[in-house]
Amino acid sequence: MGYSDIYAKWQADPEGFWMDAAGAIDWVQRPTRALNDSRAPLYEWFTDGMVNTCWNAVDRHVLAGRGAQPAIIHDSPVTGTKHVITYAELLDRVSRLAGALKAKGITKGDRVIIYMPMVPEALEAMLACARLGAIHSVVFGGFAAAELSVRIDDCKPKAIIAASCGIEPSRVVHYKPLLDGAIEMATHKPDFCVILQREQEVANLIDGRDLAWHSFQYGVEPADCVPVEGNHPAYILYTSGTTGAPKGVVRPTGGHLVALNWTMRAIYNCGVGDVFWAASDVGWVVGHSYICYAPLIAGSTTLVFEGKPVGTPDAGTFWRVIEEHKVKSFFTAPTALRAIKRDDPEGLLIKDYDTSSMQALFLAGERADPDTVDWAGRHLNVPVIDHWWQTETGFAIAANPLGLGLMPIKVGSPSVPMPGFDVRVLDEGGHEVSPGTLGAIAIKLPLPPGTLPTLWNAEDRFKKSYLSHFPGYYETGDAGYVDADGYLYIMARTDDVINVAGHRLSTGAMEEVLAGHKDVAECAVIGVADALKGQSPLGLLCLNKGVDRTPADVVAECVRLMREKIGPVADFKRAVVVDRLPKTRSGKILRATMVNIADGKPWKMPATIDDPAILDEITIALQSLGLAKS
Ligand code: COA
Ligand code: AMP
Repeated sequence: MGYSDIYAKWQADPEGFWMDAAGAIDWVQRPTRALNDSRAPLYEWFTDGMVNTCWNAVDRHVLAGRGAQPAIIHDSPVTGTKHVITYAELLDRVSRLAGALKAKGITKGDRVIIYMPMVPEALEAMLACARLGAIHSVVFGGFAAAELSVRIDDCKPKAIIAASCGIEPSRVVHYKPLLDGAIEMATHKPDFCVILQREQEVANLIDGRDLAWHSFQYGVEPADCVPVEGNHPAYILYTSGTTGAPKGVVRPTGGHLVALNWTMRAIYNCGVGDVFWAASDVGWVVGHSYICYAPLIAGSTTLVFEGKPVGTPDAGTFWRVIEEHKVKSFFTAPTALRAIKRDDPEGLLIKDYDTSSMQALFLAGERADPDTVDWAGRHLNVPVIDHWWQTETGFAIAANPLGLGLMPIKVGSPSVPMPGFDVRVLDEGGHEVSPGTLGAIAIKLPLPPGTLPTLWNAEDRFKKSYLSHFPGYYETGDAGYVDADGYLYIMARTDDVINVAGHRLSTGAMEEVLAGHKDVAECAVIGVADALKGQSPLGLLCLNKGVDRTPADVVAECVRLMREKIGPVADFKRAVVVDRLPKTRSGKILRATMVNIADGKPWKMPATIDDPAILDEITIALQSLGLAKS
């Protein structure tokens, strides 16, 4: 059956469709029903099933005789090491780690924060939590201590598992002092921390709180899988919203297993023994779904890559990895390809490697610009498949499903909705617009299995953020249109979220940091177009009267403050001091107009503007940074 038939099959009987898909998962107790709508518009899937994620990702493959197959390949150009972990070894390592956590009192429902770089132990920590029914929350290494402390206070972990350090090409990231700082700042304190000591930097352990990864596991009884309910949270993953407080997206266990397993064959055309590589980070949703869980659930081999697209050592690294490990499906962010294209515009390094194992290149995380898609298609000679998804959904809302037979590719579009997603484009009043017309993209409820049922400890915020604007729909926060063939085009966010190098960041959170600077009276952060990273944050600062330091000094302090409060990942390097900010008569800052001016795009004078002359001042300020060229 091709895509259209499968989509129609889902439309005709959504519950039957997902019950069939659930058949590919090992349940301790099979669910009797797929959808639970007893609390609509809050929905759950597979509520009365009993299941364990780790069993499905590890144990069952060993039981099926595939213990000797590689489960994880770690390829780390930054440390110059490579190694392979088989499914049998993974089972041994994960059940011992789970046993040690259990011996220290971790049980079903306890939260565990994981703060680790791209090492296999990060996946093992996730799987060990899953084995016990503990709820993990992985925090990306590029976040600063303050961001980590916010997450500690929100999910209140009993334990934190971290590494001593991470390795960026230009520096060692000192995870342990960041962790210590975060715990110091947080009101909630974990019972204990487990530290993976890496040879690149051995951290000081705090007596009575910190335990070393290896000695902590010595002599423990390996733990068995703990069955959990289908709606039990598998993990919490924090993502940027409109305000500084991150949203804790909850991932339900049963739906996660069913949906991810379905996507591995239908979208990525991968199964047992195939090598799957998502060049992302375990700290992002792509890393959760497609570095850790989905490839292992499907019995594939997952590649954990600790390096960058360029500079480790050159723009040929990706192609070397594909050749060496015979990668079948490869997934990365457009920004990574733009970085490679910039260093190797003619794709000469691609020719040094045999990439013929690769059947397709998948892109997500940000809009895939046609230039980059064309370049990749031309030089790699495989279909380049853009697909659109969000932390909230955990898997693609729209894609071109390779495993169901590829649909025609339209460059600039992530193609068509996947089963489970009834995608509509709405105007402000909630009415559907005609094909080709831009609008807010919304998804008819219920969302499919595996998508967020709520936000951690914040049901009202969940309803307010996603369900209230368009009753009966989930509001994606993206704007775009659908064409006459039903292909989607995702053009921009409708909220204060920007996308920098495939990383989702909140301008609201950045404004909160700037507003905390003692000399800043008022500020705005906007995302301006960036040829490499898609968008780049830019601050506009109004200073308090009587500030006696130069604007350049204040800007430099703000840049430092952002790195300290949010982290290097914010990539906040530019700000400019202005006298006033443009506002509507009701006091709303005109951010979108400033973005258009900065990007040199046509813009209209907003009818509601308080004082049009301010926009001339803003234009001059932006021009001083080399922006606002018409
Ligand atoms: N731990 C600590 N710091 C990190 C980090 C991590 N895991 N990841 C990134 N950083 C730091 C970087 O070192 C950099 O710091 P600097 O300001 O001191 O140089 C800063 O965060 C910004 O990083 P980034 O935006 O990634 O820029 P870059 O110049 O280091 O690399 C690219 C540019 C394009 C190569 C890189 O952004 C990339 O590979 N992007 C792909 C992103 C991706 O896979 N996203 C997932 C969605 S699918
Ligand atoms: P994240 O939750 O970090 O995965 O970011 C999700 C957001 O990234 C989406 O809401 C979009 O704004 C953007 N995004 C992700 N994939 C795509 C894509 N293929 N095309 C356009 N935008 C995308």
